[in-house]
Amino acid sequence: MERTLAIIKPDAVRAKNAGKIIDRIEQEGFSIVGMRKVQLSTQQAEDFYAVHKGKPFLPELVAFMTAGPVIVMALEKPNAIQAWRDLMGPTNPANAGANTLRKLYGTDIGSNATHGSDAPATAAQEITFFFPELK
Ligand code: CMP
Repeated sequence: MERTLAIIKPDAVRAKNAGKIIDRIEQEGFSIVGMRKVQLSTQQAEDFYAVHKGKPFLPELVAFMTAGPVIVMALEKPNAIQAWRDLMGPTNPANAGANTLRKLYGTDIGSNATHGSDAPATAAQEITFFFPELK
């Protein structure tokens, strides 16, 4: 079993696509081991995306991620990190395959509906960031 951190971003929450995304998560065989709706502060968004410090898109990313509530989830499944990345599709919805979450619900590289951890070390770190009780 493996765990990953998933976020339904403000664009998808605002568009009321969260229920459809959560339904799809369950259909695809993930177990939701933690879930919370949170309004991120600027500080929290900057801390969460610290790996992107210095990148030109960081200010826009932080503004976007704090524009409204997000739904954060810890998901569990064999090979969960890659399985969730496959279900989301690539970062830019323009490159995403049919039926991926970013193709269905994303708009562009910034407003791309969902986030997922990219490796075991970041998954552990990101899960602890939102769900310290799941350690
Ligand atoms: P996410 O998986 O949440 O990780 C970082 C986010 O930065 C990414 O999804 C994108 O939504 C956002 N982003 C905005 N611009 C860019 C860019 N030029 N390259 C990569 N990510 C970007």
